[in-house]
Amino acid sequence: MKRLIVAIDGPAGAGKSTVAKLAAQRLGYTYIDTGAMYRAVAWQALNDRIEPDNESIARLAHKIDLKLSYADGKTEVLVNGKDITDAIRTPEVSRLVSKVAQVPALRDVMLKLQRNMAAQGGVVMDGRDIGTHVLPNADIKIFLTASISERAKRRWLELKARGYNIDLAELEAEIACRDKQDCERDIAPLIAATDAITIDTTKLTINDTVKKIIELCKERQTSV
Ligand code: DC
Repeated sequence: MKRLIVAIDGPAGAGKSTVAKLAAQRLGYTYIDTGAMYRAVAWQALNDRIEPDNESIARLAHKIDLKLSYADGKTEVLVNGKDITDAIRTPEVSRLVSKVAQVPALRDVMLKLQRNMAAQGGVVMDGRDIGTHVLPNADIKIFLTASISERAKRRWLELKARGYNIDLAELEAEIACRDKQDCERDIAPLIAATDAITIDTTKLTINDTVKKIIELCKERQTSV
């Protein structure tokens, strides 16, 4: 059976990573979290106290040694050999990452890494520009959305579980700001590919969404 390339895009909090990870597990595929790659660069910029201007981030993009490893359903993010899997999920990194992700030279470096990672097939890759730019020939393209209040609520619960007590309204405003930056940037903005299937997850459970994606993959596999 053909090992497919599955692209999942959508805004923050739409459920991409949860759903993509589970779909990859059920399909026996590798899960690639491209947001984690941009977060790793933002983390490094914060750590090195680098101003997030284009030139500094471009310089960082060329020298950073970034590795994603995926085993037993878990992704590990390594920068210069250091495990920063949890460190990239802090609110500080979330606040900086959309700005960092706008730098063209960084996006170029990421694009090449991401295409290499998907070259063998049997991958579920999630992000903002996967179906439109990184893998325009993906076998399946999904665009996951949800209402902004639902997305903010999900992020709030996620952060609360990790010990952060953030104001829900503030979080919703931050997500709206991130959406705006991701959608309005010049290069590879967040937009559904014309051949993507949109799934609104506002009222769907995680399991319903994963099931839908697996069904789409099965249909696709029988048609190739
Ligand atoms: O999915 P996430 O919240 O971990 O993504 C972090 C940021 O990285 C997000 O603000 C947009 C950016 N990003 C991107 O520009 N392109 C991608 N393919 C993935 C993420």
